[in-house]
Amino acid sequence: MNIVKRIALPLTLIVGIVFILTTAWSQDEMTVVDNSVFDNPQRPVSVFEHDLHNEAAGIDECNVCHHVYEDGQLVEDESSEDMSCSDCHDLETSDGQPPLMSAFHANCKGCHEAEGKGPIMCGECHIK
Ligand code: HEC
Ligand code: HEC
Ligand code: HEC
Ligand code: HEC
Repeated sequence: MNIVKRIALPLTLIVGIVFILTTAWSQDEMTVVDNSVFDNPQRPVSVFEHDLHNEAAGIDECNVCHHVYEDGQLVEDESSEDMSCSDCHDLETSDGQPPLMSAFHANCKGCHEAEGKGPIMCGECHIK
């Protein structure tokens, strides 16, 4: 009996803290692609529920999107997940790599077209 009483309060606290942390974490999950790097966005921000999307699409490798190139060659086992696409892709063209908007469209729409799954139409990603 005594021991139950002694652990009851700490246990409740721990469960509470874990609950708060997981709730805060899930609110933090990405649901849209941040468009703040575009000076004057023309479209509503694109829907992209990062984790759910990648699970549903069955993508295992992070670097399918978060790639790393060296001298124009894709580096197979490396990932740039700690960087934004805009860290390497400028708004305007640079060094033979696609500018930012084209990079997003080629990556997102490119795969949807290739797989015959996922949205292709503007309004299916840029949802008002
Ligand atoms: C598969 C999803 C997808 C589709 C389909 C798509 N886009 Fe995008 N688009 C994006 C993403 C992701 C970005 C970068 C983040 C953002 O702006 O949402 C972007 C960025 C843009 C931007 C630059 C940011 C801005 O708002 O000015 C424009 C303009 C744009 N898209 C127009 C279009 C047009 C026009 C179409 C249809 C011909 C289209 N997009 C179809 C995903 C998509
Ligand atoms: C289908 C493409 C795609 C795949 C696959 C993918 N990501 Fe991302 N991820 C993105 C995009 C797009 C962004 C937003 C980048 C930006 O705003 O420049 C992003 C952002 C992130 C961020 C930034 C954190 C945030 O919430 O803003 C992290 C961390 C991340 N991804 C980790 C991963 C990891 C780990 C994997 C593999 C398990 C992965 N990603 C797989 C497309 C992808
Ligand atoms: C560390 C720098 C870096 C980051 C971060 C990066 N890219 Fe790239 N990306 C490059 C380089 C360099 C090229 C040109 C490769 C070549 O020479 O063909 C490229 C090419 C591309 C291409 C065309 C070739 C291909 O692989 O399909 C697309 C599309 C693209 N990037 C999309 C993205 C998206 C979307 C993100 C964010 C999720 C992103 N990139 C993040 C460096 C980067
Ligand atoms: C490597 C392939 C691949 C890439 C890259 C990819 N997608 Fe997808 N996407 C898919 C597949 C496959 C589906 C269909 C999943 C299903 O069957 O539910 C999908 C579905 C979607 C959907 C509808 C379902 C949902 O999750 O809401 C949206 C919106 C979407 N993708 C947005 C994007 C955006 C935005 C990007 C770029 C940042 C992107 N996708 C990059 C493969 C990809």
